[in-house]
Amino acid sequence: MFQDQLVSFSGVQPSGNLTIGNYLGAIKNFSTFSEKYKCFYCVVDEHAITVRQVPADLRRRTYETLALYMACGLDPDKNTLYVQSHVHEHAELGWILNCFTMFGELSRMTQFKDKSAKHADNINAGLFTYPVLMAADILLYQTDVVPVGIDQKQHVEICRDIAERFNQVFPDTFTIPEPVIPQQGMKIMSLAEPTKKMSKSDENVNAVVYILDDRDTIIRKFKRAVTDSDTVVRCADGKDGINNLMTIYSTFTGKTFDEIEREFDGKGYGDFKLAVGEVCADALAPVQEKYKCFISDKAQLEAQMKKGAEEASYVARRTLSKVQKKLGFVQVR
Ligand code: TYM
Repeated sequence: MFQDQLVSFSGVQPSGNLTIGNYLGAIKNFSTFSEKYKCFYCVVDEHAITVRQVPADLRRRTYETLALYMACGLDPDKNTLYVQSHVHEHAELGWILNCFTMFGELSRMTQFKDKSAKHADNINAGLFTYPVLMAADILLYQTDVVPVGIDQKQHVEICRDIAERFNQVFPDTFTIPEPVIPQQGMKIMSLAEPTKKMSKSDENVNAVVYILDDRDTIIRKFKRAVTDSDTVVRCADGKDGINNLMTIYSTFTGKTFDEIEREFDGKGYGDFKLAVGEVCADALAPVQEKYKCFISDKAQLEAQMKKGAEEASYVARRTLSKVQKKLGFVQVR
């Protein structure tokens, strides 16, 4: 679509304060695609309403997520940054793709099973068809790569299945995307229950380190992180807490697990936890500094949203129109 340029697409829900899981598993990696790819990074507010949101919080977090994208190094002149609901083609293609998605395959999505267990009073159809809207997000831009954490792999796979099914009936419609999952940081675990993914919707704030937590809070949370009764810093089965802290330390510093084990040889968990807290706080400090600047200028953020939506709509319109023509929808101009 972009004459020889490959396309990268990803999204983040403005459904809570963003965590170091979102940062290490996804956002930090987005900017590495800017040189080689045409990049679209979206704030997916339509996905967020599959779970009840307080409207004022959703609005505020939509601005915050865009400001964080920019603070994490996404230059709006090199990346198209926008809000999903500003580009109506997402919802329209979502509807069409619903008609190419099977009930059975949606029933197998682990995120649907988890979220419907967690929100048993609100198992709405949007929660069920969530992956179809996600497929529309990706396919509208003829995406080649989708940088995500491992928890989204199943959703990118169903997106590929939907695209292949559509292409079988209507050849050469969609590019088939590949998930790009980082080797390190693909699944950052909760600090309180290290067998569970760190999640922005966790009610226990001590289980989660937010990108915008201040230095003291970050260090305090790591000091309290659940570990085990052993004392040696090493990666092993059953040492979920330490494995997670080693992953976080390694992802922030670039050190291998062997190097980390040597660095903390003869030292206890206390020293290690403090070091993890310090590298995390050091790495986030410049992001937080830039964030303060971006979030304080709402007019500028709105101008970016508008520019991003115009750029995204231009591409989205072309794909949607191609799909509608193939389906036999009458086009009048
Ligand atoms: P969301 O908002 O839950 O998360 C945003 C990104 O952060 C990653 N992530 C993690 N990575 C490592 N460790 C963790 N603990 C962790 N928690 C979250 C997620 O894998 C994701 O990459 N459905 C998506 C949003 C979306 C999307 C898209 C993504 C909508 N449309 C199209 C890619 C392409 C979601 O809920 O992400």
